[in-house]
Amino acid sequence: TADTDPGSGYGGFPAVRPRRLRGTPAMRRMVAEHRVHPADLILPAFVREGISEPVPVAAMPGVVQHTRDTLRKAAVEAVAAGVSGIMLFGVPEEKDAIGSQGTDPDGILQRALRDVRAEVGDELVIMSDLCLDEYTDHGHCGVLDAQGRVDNDATLLRYAEMARVQADAGAHVLGASGMMDGQIGHARAALDEAGHQDVSLFAYTAKYTSAFYGPFREAVGSSLKGDRKTYQQDPPNAREALRELALDLAEGADMVMVKPGLPYLDILREIAERADVPVGVYQISGEYAMLEAAAEKGWVERERAILETLTSFKRAGASMILTYWATEAAALLQHDS
Ligand code: PBG
Repeated sequence: TADTDPGSGYGGFPAVRPRRLRGTPAMRRMVAEHRVHPADLILPAFVREGISEPVPVAAMPGVVQHTRDTLRKAAVEAVAAGVSGIMLFGVPEEKDAIGSQGTDPDGILQRALRDVRAEVGDELVIMSDLCLDEYTDHGHCGVLDAQGRVDNDATLLRYAEMARVQADAGAHVLGASGMMDGQIGHARAALDEAGHQDVSLFAYTAKYTSAFYGPFREAVGSSLKGDRKTYQQDPPNAREALRELALDLAEGADMVMVKPGLPYLDILREIAERADVPVGVYQISGEYAMLEAAAEKGWVERERAILETLTSFKRAGASMILTYWATEAAALLQHDS
């Protein structure tokens, strides 16, 4: 009734009118609870060995596998747009069972790290993917045991070596995305032993096995058959993400991440409420592909939809957002603000 519900004034006119604060762009801007800033954004980028022109990723319009040269340019553009970081993924010519190219100091990712570091120095936080799936011929994130299962502890030894070569090559931050148990503690110890105390670890804390990784597999030329269900988290589980968070923090993670983004905003919110380190979210390849495809058909308004998704991550508690739209979105946001 009107007495108990002054907002809607049953049968009468409302006394409380939330619409007052929505009337003009200036008012909406002033009362906005969250905003996305270019500095929140991190650009994931692919660099492929042995190509002389960038190769478009079909399922991700606007995203390419870079040459070493075009990657440098992309890094410079990201800096100019105000983006904070870049996350590099290497696509090697040769893959094998143990992912040798991932630990070769001359492997494509290590070369790219040196290139980008030489080009932009400390103006961009340079991150690299600490995972084997781009380098293994079976496409798994680790090495396999005699039965063909992903061998957790043998993989940790490979990650330790990988961490050292990536840090040697100039990475500021290593993105531990393999979902092996103990990977953060193991990588931390390896870095410290090698004198890389200053290199940070960005833990993919809650990384769910997801259908939305599909386009990424094309982007890195993945040869994966099967799935990653024995190591990535099962989508129905939320509590498990908190256990992963506790472990990553105890093992020394400097930053933590939730991935994918949109289907896991609840997890992002829970982690953001509990973590005492910066929290990031990864808007993954399939999220990008989905929106680009709908926009191409004219079914959603592209730029508005992009910014709305980024805003949802801030609202859910992320302070860093990995997105393939980073450079473009940063430019849009500068116009916006
Ligand atoms: C593992 C890794 C993946 C992604 C980032 N790091 C692939 C996977 O787990 O299957 C996916 C990112 C995306 O889909 O955009 N190296």
